[in-house]
Amino acid sequence: MTAPLLVLVGPMGVGKSTVGALLAERLGTAYRDTDDDIVAEQGRTIAEIFVEDGEDAFRAIEKRAVRRALTEHDGVLALGGGAILDADTRALLGGVRVVYLSMDVEEAVRRTGLNAARPLLAVNPRKQWRELMEARRHLYEGVATAVVATDGRTPEEVTQAALDAL
Ligand code: S3P
Repeated sequence: MTAPLLVLVGPMGVGKSTVGALLAERLGTAYRDTDDDIVAEQGRTIAEIFVEDGEDAFRAIEKRAVRRALTEHDGVLALGGGAILDADTRALLGGVRVVYLSMDVEEAVRRTGLNAARPLLAVNPRKQWRELMEARRHLYEGVATAVVATDGRTPEEVTQAALDAL
């Protein structure tokens, strides 16, 4: 049983994968992403799982994947943007160093646009982003040991800010 050196949470498109890989490199450790684990395990894309099985089924798969990664991985771990919706998952993050990468709604719309690969943003992305952020912001803040704003920053700048916040 082990624990990640660092967990990244935050909305989709905020740069968890890019920054996570950079952070792992700077910290001399491995990077892992629960979305990648799910795709590998299921042999399907996240969008396919949403369309074929629905969001609830995806969340159950995600919950298992997060639990497994939290006990197996000792490097930098990025969680899918909705993983923190689950109360058990939030409880598992207690005692772990968690960096919340944040962005405002307009930055989110700019970065993700109309991205068909992200099932939660299929229609009216600005409205959906506003609702997502309102529903989730306090959950991200609740599990975070540090918050790093990404608006207008490059991945390298965000990485440095996250390292400074550790
Ligand atoms: C989701 C975020 C996605 C992915 C799925 C649902 C969410 O992960 O797990 O599309 O609910 O915010 P990323 O945050 O890695 O894009």
